[in-house]
Amino acid sequence: MNKDTALDATFDAEEKRNTLLLVDDIPANLKVLVSYLQNFNFKVRIAQDGEDALQQVSYAKPDLILLDVMMPKIDGFETCRCLKQNPETQNIPVIFMSALNDTFDKVAGFEAGGVDYITKPFQHEEVLARVNTHLTLKHLREQVAEQNTFLEQRVKQRTQELDAIRLHVIRSLGRAAEYRDNETGRHVIRMSKCAARLAKALDLDDDACEMILNASPMHDVGKIGIPDHILLKPGKLEPDEWSVMKTHATIGEEILSGNDSELLKTAALIARTHHERWDGSGYPEGLKGDDIPLISRIVSICDVFDALLSRRPYKEPWELSTVLDYINNNSGILFDPHLVELFNQCLDDILEIQQQYADD
Ligand SMILES: [Fe+2]
Ligand SMILES: [Fe+2]
Repeated sequence: MNKDTALDATFDAEEKRNTLLLVDDIPANLKVLVSYLQNFNFKVRIAQDGEDALQQVSYAKPDLILLDVMMPKIDGFETCRCLKQNPETQNIPVIFMSALNDTFDKVAGFEAGGVDYITKPFQHEEVLARVNTHLTLKHLREQVAEQNTFLEQRVKQRTQELDAIRLHVIRSLGRAAEYRDNETGRHVIRMSKCAARLAKALDLDDDACEMILNASPMHDVGKIGIPDHILLKPGKLEPDEWSVMKTHATIGEEILSGNDSELLKTAALIARTHHERWDGSGYPEGLKGDDIPLISRIVSICDVFDALLSRRPYKEPWELSTVLDYINNNSGILFDPHLVELFNQCLDDILEIQQQYADD
């Protein structure tokens, strides 16, 4: 062992020694006890009264305190209460010391936060046994608390990892669906950002806006289940083809359901209801007005707005003014009128999103 390692080992051993603080206004009373305890590898410190003890503890925390009850200024009970009220010192075990002829109130001692008591004159072996018992208990409690903190951190970390994976899978699904009928897949990015912006204009809280942002990209995931000859057909769909096309709402819901996460439940709800219309003429259920989930009423405006501005197999992009006329003319027919009003109010931001994520 080289000199440094030997020094480190000595330092570690010194660090691991338990510190006891003995508090008595007549330190002479403790002289014999102090020498006795020092034989057992404790670091022993002495305080003259309650105030002195509190001051010493604020500088360096002992592992255990032996505390006299009858003292001038503040007595042992009050000192113990102060220690227990302070989160920094509340876990230090306190053993009361009382003289046999004192009228020591045991119940008051436990109520003040003491863990045990011993009576003077001391039987040294008894003091040692009680000190060791409470030090062991204290260290076990600390170990359990450390393990709990470690486990809580692990759970938090795993939850974050799972959330990140879930979000990634969800975004990938949204893009996969969009790639089938849209070259760039940017439609889902634009419409989800617009939907989150509109949700903000509606004064929804940050969590709700983020939920819309993350859950809405999968609104058309059900298109995975629509055959190419219908999904990619240039021009108008025949009525039977149209009925197949409409099933993308319920297919999407089926793909996304079966998981308890709020994100997937919301995504499934949006997938199912994003083609419902304010006047009840939408699908799959023909829901009307407020019966349509708010989140889907928000998504619906942003989805249609972006789809009309984009090139699709069956249509050329529309001019912005024509799209805005369409949205406004359908306020209270296809769309929630209050949301159309808010959409107009935050149009500048929405157009900025359109530009930022424009197709190449
Ligand atoms: Fe759709
Ligand atoms: Fe869409």
